[in-house]
Amino acid sequence: MATRAKARDTAGAASPDGQIAVLVVHGPNLNLLGEREPEVYGRTRLADIDKELKRLGRELEMKVETFQSNSEGGIVDRIQKARGKCDVLLINPGAYTHTSVAIRDAIAAVNIPVIEVHLSNVYRREPFRHHSTIADIARGRIMGFGAESYSLALRAARTIAEESRRRSG
Ligand code: DQA
Repeated sequence: MATRAKARDTAGAASPDGQIAVLVVHGPNLNLLGEREPEVYGRTRLADIDKELKRLGRELEMKVETFQSNSEGGIVDRIQKARGKCDVLLINPGAYTHTSVAIRDAIAAVNIPVIEVHLSNVYRREPFRHHSTIADIARGRIMGFGAESYSLALRAARTIAEESRRRSG
């Protein structure tokens, strides 16, 4: 436990109790999950995704915080607030994936490893969804598994956080 806390201090991140801290950010229209185009995004509601991530977080001994905003500025503010307080950021920027330089810049500024998450496989959809402003600065991308994409990403987040603690500890 002491080793873990030391590694945490060196890494400059997160929760005072030494647990890995993960922030999950959901972008615009994801508040409507369950009702919105269920044939594309499934029937699971956002509240249920968040609940499952918190449950899985407890199982994996990680602290999971979730956040949703329909506004680009709101997302930028939340990412900035995570600076030095979070080990890994999971983000589904929704439609901002394809357009937002501001979200990309915020991610680059806070220097937190990022996993890009999508419910749908964007490459099976319209060409305008094939471009992501954050793909090249993300550690990895998980898409196409519906709500399960988030759980897979959370498991990957644990691996990433443990690796960076080992490196800095
Ligand atoms: C999405 C894919 C985006 O193209 C779309 O605008 C969304 C959801 C996904 O999770 O599949 O809002 O990010």
